[in-house]
Amino acid sequence: MIMDIPAHRVVVTDPCQRFDWRAIFGQDRPVELDLGAGDGGFALAYAGMHPEINLLAVERLLGRVRKIEKRAARTERSNLRVLRLEFGYTVRYLLPSESVSVAHILFPDPWPKRRHWPRRLIQPDFVRDLARALRPGGELRFTTDHEHYFATAQQAVTDAQVLQRAPEWNWSLDPKTDFQQTFEAEGRPIWRARWVKA
Ligand SMILES: C[S@@+](CC[C@H](N)C(=O)[O-])C[C@H]1O[C@@H](n2cnc3c(N)ncnc32)[C@H](O)[C@@H]1O
Repeated sequence: MIMDIPAHRVVVTDPCQRFDWRAIFGQDRPVELDLGAGDGGFALAYAGMHPEINLLAVERLLGRVRKIEKRAARTERSNLRVLRLEFGYTVRYLLPSESVSVAHILFPDPWPKRRHWPRRLIQPDFVRDLARALRPGGELRFTTDHEHYFATAQQAVTDAQVLQRAPEWNWSLDPKTDFQQTFEAEGRPIWRARWVKA
């Protein structure tokens, strides 16, 4: 079957094979991830501000993925690729070891009901999977508007025992995410944390 594959889409042809970043981006640059990219406001702007890196945006909703791809094509973002897949699977099975410089997890779904807490992305197993994929010195940058998620995420990273807490990055230089703009307009507080792989 012949299909039109959008230029910025990463297609997984073998779900057991880890990514070859050079094949995906066409050049070797530090790789960063935007896990749960939403409509891609952050990914598009960040890739534009940082031509020295390659950015993979991971998002499971097709409508959002298509939005990112259209905007990436319009703005000719050659250092941005989009993957439509579940981010837990992506991190565990598709990322090569010690290959990622920064993983951005920005306003992930907070799952506020107690019975849904196990669905939160930042859990010890996920953190260990991510740490495998991070380079030495690689970092996880986490932002949320949900205080309880912030607390459980910090505990999860502590329990995983693979990343060290570090001072906040200079987040004021980062473009705002789509959700961030909404939350800031509503006056909600925002929490951030950064962890580094030794
Ligand atoms: C609350 S939104 C935040 C989007 C964006 N980071 C922002 O700040 O504007 C969370 C995003 O994560 C995506 N998402 C949730 N679970 C996911 C999963 N398991 N795999 C990939 N994406 C997921 C959702 O579809 C949604 O677009």
